[in-house]
Amino acid sequence: MFNKRTKIKQLLNEASIGKETTVMGWVRTFRNNQFIALNDGSTNNNLQIVVELGLADEATLKRITTGASIKATGVLVESLGKGQKVELKATAIEILGDCDPEKYPLQPKKHSLEFLREIAHLRFRTNTFGAVFRVRHALAFAVHQFFNQKGFVYLHTPIITASDAEGAGEMFQVTTLPLNNLPKQSNGTIDFSDDFFGKATNLTVSGQLEGELGATAFSEIYTFGPTFRAENSNTARHLAEFWMIEPEMAFNDLEDNMNLAEEFIKYIIGYALKNNSEDIEFLDARLKEEEKSLPQDKRSEFGLIEKLEFVLNNAFERITYTEAIDILLNSSHYKKKKFKYEVSWGIDMQSEHERYLVEKHFKRPVIVTDYPKDIKAFYMRQNDDGKTVAAMDILAPGIGEIVGGSQREERLEKLETRMKEMHIPAEEMNWYLDTRRFGSVPHAGFGLGFERMVLFVTGMTNIRDVIPFARTPKNCEF
Ligand code: 4AD
Ligand code: MG
Repeated sequence: MFNKRTKIKQLLNEASIGKETTVMGWVRTFRNNQFIALNDGSTNNNLQIVVELGLADEATLKRITTGASIKATGVLVESLGKGQKVELKATAIEILGDCDPEKYPLQPKKHSLEFLREIAHLRFRTNTFGAVFRVRHALAFAVHQFFNQKGFVYLHTPIITASDAEGAGEMFQVTTLPLNNLPKQSNGTIDFSDDFFGKATNLTVSGQLEGELGATAFSEIYTFGPTFRAENSNTARHLAEFWMIEPEMAFNDLEDNMNLAEEFIKYIIGYALKNNSEDIEFLDARLKEEEKSLPQDKRSEFGLIEKLEFVLNNAFERITYTEAIDILLNSSHYKKKKFKYEVSWGIDMQSEHERYLVEKHFKRPVIVTDYPKDIKAFYMRQNDDGKTVAAMDILAPGIGEIVGGSQREERLEKLETRMKEMHIPAEEMNWYLDTRRFGSVPHAGFGLGFERMVLFVTGMTNIRDVIPFARTPKNCEF
């Protein structure tokens, strides 16, 4: 058996002096031919390994370079050096894999996030990305724990579908047809009958519609999977492939939906704060350092941990879309013509508007409800005013929209009428409409963009830095 090792995190936590232990990991630095800082990814804290004179020959010492992997056995002793309580006094050192320092791109110095994005296959080995992806893991785990504790069923909705859930038409097509010689129908359009599925298909933009089928049997389900959007938005908040959590609840109205979303967000933040405090403290310090180079007015008002604790301990603001527009129209920002995009009832709020509401006006997460029906999807429940739908978006400081959801239209006739108005082919959606034909119930749900949540909790500012391998327009490396 090879894996007779103790993880560094456990070793540092227990700090059992005198214990004989084996560790394995990657060398971060090697000082004075004597002190190795070893990291195995379990924590950002390195284990100091002391290589006493005579333990290893000259040739072996030369191979202990930044990035090399080693196995070290020794005894845990109290450390006299600064920065650590314990260190490993080595009795044996074995090189597992060499790393040519001339060629290794990760030097023991600060690299820019842009540079690290280009070597995303190696960036997990840095402190920043070590912390970010351990926090990402914790958040994912907390998602499952939250819903499992509440008795929700985790439903795996399909990745390949023939429907466009959001009706937004921003889909990646899936086909096995020869692209250089597409079969055509007599009217010139593509003949999909020879395609793999015998019809046009695409990658899913949302698991919601299938989620609704589950909710109208299990009462409460959630999905957590990759979703794909071919929107050509090259921003720090958009990915072409992102992960989304979509709970769907029968017997819920818009208010139940908001309550669940708020509880859920607070739960996963609380989980990460409690279980990943070391990493979040590291990210908090990183952010403070990063912001030192910014002008005063561009810096965050709160530190990362302060911000997360504030969100945990305060109710989200809840306002209607109509109230939001009024706030914007009455703001001095608007009067001084500081918004780039127009403000009037009916607009799809731009990120500058959302951020004004959250960061300048309320200074906390805001849930905006009851949007104009014309800017929202066909499945949202129509309000009695004939103009708005029972939608809700949650806007978060520094991020903008983090959740989008709604109460669903459960009345068959109203749904069919709306689909007709929006040119959604009802014949292809019979399976969906069946939920409204056979024991329809009031129900609601929402989608949380997982990467936007990870941005919020880690204080990172570019969405490319919180997913292992980002897919964005003109970029599909690794
Ligand atoms: O608001 P959206 O489009 O809502 C839906 O897809 C609904 N079917 C959800 C539901 O009710 N079950 O997307 C939901 C969330 C957004 O609020 C945002 O956080 C995230 O998904 N999102 C993206 N994240 C990263 N990159 C993109 N291109 C995103 N598009 C949406
Ligand atoms: Mg949305």
